Amino acid sequence: MDDIFLEMIDFKNKMLLDKVLEWRNDIDTRNNSINTSIITEDIFHNIIEKYKSSKYKPLIIYYGNNIDNPTENNPIGILTFIGGCNDNNDNNDNNNCFIGINIDPNYRNKQISSRALRKFINEFEIKDKIYAKIKKYNINSIKLFSKLFVFSHMDEDFMYYYYDFSNKNQVISSNGYLGL
Ligand SMILES: CC(C)(COP(=O)(O)OP(=O)(O)OC[C@H]1O[C@@H](n2cnc3c(N)ncnc32)[C@H](O)[C@@H]1OP(=O)(O)O)[C@@H](O)C(=O)NCCC(=O)NCCS
Repeated sequence: MDDIFLEMIDFKNKMLLDKVLEWRNDIDTRNNSINTSIITEDIFHNIIEKYKSSKYKPLIIYYGNNIDNPTENNPIGILTFIGGCNDNNDNNDNNNCFIGINIDPNYRNKQISSRALRKFINEFEIKDKIYAKIKKYNINSIKLFSKLFVFSHMDEDFMYYYYDFSNKNQVISSNGYLGL
């Protein structure tokens, strides 16, 4: 039975937002983020405002068996969308829309992110190209995206992948996998 659900974030759910902030301040998450500093409540508030004005709202990954009411299940991760998918966007990396993923540290290395990302690709009717920009040494994340997204290019610090939702027949190549 399917036990992973993706549901749009409830911005009014303070306990959920606290969890998201806790996940964001996890040390591995910080090291793998562009901004590696501790995110304070104030900064987090600004991040939430950005999410709110984005074309695609964050999706919470729930884990459990309550099919009828997925949000009663356990929230264990988040998919976020920033950049060009933000209608008020202030020009971020050539206006591309960037996906981010963060899994509760207690639920990592259980293939949750692979399943959640696959679900996102298969179930969400959107038309854009969604990009992922990943630090070169973030091996888990590179493995994840090289399985499900198309490798675009790399620069000194980052690997870039994309998924074109208008072309579900695109070839997912394992280029950029760094041979791992
Ligand atoms: C990156 C992240 C989302 C991966 O989530 P996850 O659910 O733990 O990932 P999975 O269990 O699906 O594993 C992903 C791959 O990494 C591999 N992996 C896990 N631990 C590993 C390790 N220590 N060394 C090498 N590979 C490892 C898994 O085997 C899997 O590859 P496979 O499917 O080929 O076997 C999660 O670690 C996370 O939230 N990290 C912090 C935030 C972050 O870095 N986000 C990405 C930037 S957008």
